[in-house]
Formats: sequence, structure tokens, C-alpha cells
Amino acid sequence: MVTLEKSGDQFNIGHICTTAQCEAGRGDKVALRWISAALERTDFTFSELDRQSNRFANVLGGLGFQPEEIFFTFLPKATEQFFAFLGALKARVVCGTLFANFGEEALLDRLGDSRARGILTKKHFLKKLLRIRDRLPNLEYIILVDSDEHLGNGVLSYQRLMDEASDFFQVAHTGPETPSVLHYTSGSTGKPKGVLHHHRAVLSQSYTAAHVLDLKDDDLFWCTADQGWVTGTSYGIIGPWSLGVTQIHYAGNYDAAAWFALLEREGITIWYSAPTALRMLMRESDELYGGFDLSRLRHIYSVGEPLNPEVIHWSRRLLNHDIYDTWFQTETGAIMICNRPGVELRPGSMGTPIPGIQPAILGDDGGAIPDGEQGNLCVKVGWPSMFATYLNNESAYESKFRDGWYYTGDTARRDSDGHYWFMGRSDDVINTAGHLISPFEVESALLEIPEIAESGVIGAPDELLYEKVVAFISLHQGVEYTTALELKIRLHISNKVSSIATPQEIRVLERIPKNKSGKIMRRVLKATYLGADIGDISTLEEQ
Ligand code: PRX
Repeated sequence: MVTLEKSGDQFNIGHICTTAQCEAGRGDKVALRWISAALERTDFTFSELDRQSNRFANVLGGLGFQPEEIFFTFLPKATEQFFAFLGALKARVVCGTLFANFGEEALLDRLGDSRARGILTKKHFLKKLLRIRDRLPNLEYIILVDSDEHLGNGVLSYQRLMDEASDFFQVAHTGPETPSVLHYTSGSTGKPKGVLHHHRAVLSQSYTAAHVLDLKDDDLFWCTADQGWVTGTSYGIIGPWSLGVTQIHYAGNYDAAAWFALLEREGITIWYSAPTALRMLMRESDELYGGFDLSRLRHIYSVGEPLNPEVIHWSRRLLNHDIYDTWFQTETGAIMICNRPGVELRPGSMGTPIPGIQPAILGDDGGAIPDGEQGNLCVKVGWPSMFATYLNNESAYESKFRDGWYYTGDTARRDSDGHYWFMGRSDDVINTAGHLISPFEVESALLEIPEIAESGVIGAPDELLYEKVVAFISLHQGVEYTTALELKIRLHISNKVSSIATPQEIRVLERIPKNKSGKIMRRVLKATYLGADIGDISTLEEQ
């Protein structure tokens, strides 16, 4: 049995995940088993995690950070990211995480909107940050995990700062509504929105880690998600450590043989991954899996995109396990609807709500939709990990709520036995391999390319990625579409937005369909792409 190590009104996530674990007698227990890309192992105990995060809390204090100011990590998988994240939370500094693939525009939007004062990164990303730094007047400190020396102008060495910092830190009392974690999420219009959470979210994260992921004291848990996304913080950091459970983190990229070698060698017991990765594994030959002994593995979970039944059938056949699909969002902070051990699993359904969570399928007018029919997936307001706000965007936050219901932006249906079935998004946000991509962000970046006159971006079905990014462009008069231009477009999107936002397909049109007020008709683009009926286009501008 594992329980949340929390006493009284101390909600501080950094404290709960480290100091409280040591106080509960887990000081010598391995908290983090770090596996390098070359599959070498380094263990960090809870007391090591406590000391390292204390040091980082002191580093931020020494630099003058005040509670509620914002600090970001911008790193590929790295041990320092865990220490910094927990250290920032201990100091009651809000910690945001940025996906290491983000390009300049993506960084500028997020760091600029949040007025972040500091960022932890590595030398490789320094050039990118320096190119935008003059437009980020609040960004005082860039801390480098791989520089032995301070480089001047606020560019500092992590190691030096940590060497000089004390490993003792007294965490101040942190109430449940103290701001904690910040993740930017993409919408279909406008800039990305900063989803701000409270320390109270740990209640939902630990509850679901114990009762959905079924974590026990002697489990070895592996969450493959990157810390740049909510799964990587809610379940790759907070949930398991709040219960004192050992986590594996692997620095390497996807590699079927390495992943299975890890599952076997380390004796991983609970594995949380995502449909695209599972579909990639499914594409490997059956023989690959034959040689591995996965007898220690108890459960497999998935999140982020629809999990097609074929993957579950494959897993049952080859791995002798079900895969439990779980549904949540950056905004919900923790799993809301899921399949889990002990509850009937219907392949293709994302399962049933966890105790205390009340979803509903509502129409656009707020009325209840009958079972079996598609509508807006909503959640009754009031769960502990509900986001606090969209930073600097109260109106967007308010627009998500009506009559005590949170509108998730997803459409779904509920069957007569209460199982929920994901249908799609009610907006134009693209979900590619579990990453939400804003068509608006990609369209804007495309317009920066001098040859492009207009752009419209959609998500189209993809067997592996669930959706792929498809860009429609029109070119200025006299411009010819060449392979060189195509390459230029791909590079530009990768550098400015991120490599995952880079269009898989680019199509050139005479004009991009827009309505009378100039809004891009992505619905028309999608229908064109799919060869489907375009539907009512009476609002289309005169061509
Ligand atoms: O559309 C849903 C999809 O991912 C969205 C949330 O994305 P994000 O905020 O980036 O958080 C991702 C990790 C939780 C949802 O609105 N999504 C998430 N889980 C599922 C899903 N779609 C189908 N099935 C799921 N299990």
C-alpha cells in the first residue's frame, strides 16, 4: 500500500516528493534510476533527490527569485531537470517545462508571455535563446547544465551554482492554492496558452498514481513521456514520487530493442506510454519480443491519443497484457477517465471516470446529449488538479466554463454502461503523436517565408501518428514551387516552431479558402484533402 506523504496543510509538491519521503523512512530508497542513452544505470536515492532539489531551491533564492516568479526548464531528458523542477517548487517559484524540440518562435511566445526570469538549458540551445533574448526583457538568467564556468551576461554554470549552494533548505508553508507548474498548450486560434496549476494538484496526481496506475511500494515505474508535457510532470515526476515509488527515466530515444531490454533488465513493473510509441512497437517483427522475459511487468497504460483496439489485441497476444487507456489534458492535470485493473475493458473506449470525477456529454447549448450520441466532453468543476487559470488570459479561461461545467474541447460519446468513447476535437487543434499542435502557430510561421502569400494548416488522419500536419499554401505571383522551397519551408517550421510541427505534406493552391471575415476555412481544406463533401460554404468569401 502506498499513500501520499503529506501532513497537515503543507501542500508543497517539492517537499512531498523528497523531504516527506525521507521523513517516512525512504531516505535510502532509490527514487530515480537514471538510464543513459548507452543503457548505463545511475541511482539517486530520495535523500539525494532531497539534497539536490534543496541546493537548487537555494540557487534560485541566491539569484533573488521570489515566490510565484517563473522559471523554466528547457532540456532533453536530464537528471538536472528533476532537481531543478522540485527545487523551484520548494522555493515556491513556478516551474514551467519546455519541450526540447521547440524552435525560436515557440520559445519566444512562451517565455515572453510568462515573463520568465530564468531558464535551465544546455549549451547546444544557447544560440537559439541568445537570438531572441533582446525580445525577452525579463529573462535575466540562463543556466547551463554543461558549462563549468559562468559565461557572463546572466549566463551561468549550473554546476558552479550548485557547488556553492547549501543542501539544506527549509520549505516554507505552502497552501493548496499556491501556483506550482506551468505548461503551455496550443489552441486553434491565437498564441499558446499558459496552463497554470496549484500545489493542490498533487492530491489528484497521487490518487490516480495509486488507484489507476496501481503503484505499490516495491514497484518500478517507467513513464516514457518527456518532461516538456503534462504527462511527464504529473506522472514522470509528481504522482509516483509523492507516493515514494521508484521511477526509471531513460535518456535514449525510441528504440524497440532498447526499450524491451530495459523492461526486462530493470524488471519494470508498471509502464506508462503512448499510442504512437505502442504502434511503432507493433510494427516490429514478432520475433523481436520472443526473447524477452517480461514476467515482472504488471500493467501497461497509454495516454495522449486514441488507442486503437488493434494495439490492445497485439499486446494481449504478444505481451500477455491489456493496455489501459487513460484520458486527461494539461488543463485537468491528472487522469480523469480511464481503463484500469479490475474494471471491464472495452477496446477502443477510454474507459470510465475515476471516483469523484463527473463527466458529461453536453450539446453546444449546454443540454445533455443522450447515451450513444456524440457531444462535447465536459467535466463537472471542482476536482483538485483543475487548472488555476490560463496565464494572462482570463477570458480564454472563462470561456471554457459554463454552468459549473468545464468544456474540454474534445467530443465523445458515452455508451449505456457508462464507458466513454473519444470521437475527436471540437476545435482545429492537431494531435500528432500525442503532441497538440496549433494550426495557427504553423500558419503564422509559414507566412514569414517571403514566397508564401497565404497558408492554412490542418490535421489529417495518419495510421501511425493518429494525425499528421498538412499545410496548404498559396504562393506570390511568379514564385514557382520547387524542392528547394519545400526544404526551406520544412526547415523554417522546424527552427521556428518545432520539428514535430513540421508539415508531413505540403500542398499548393491558387488561393486559401477564407470566409467573408477573412478566417481560414480549415473545414474546407480538410474536406478537400479527404475528398469529402465540402458542406455548407455559404460564408465563403467571393473568389
Ligand atoms: O484530445 C485529447 C487528447 O489529448 C488532449 C490533451 O492534450 P494535452 O493537453 O497535451 O495532454 C496530453 C496528455 C494528457 C485531449 O484533449 N487525448 C488525451 N488522452 C487521450 C486523448 N485522446 C484520445 N484518447 C486519450 N486517451
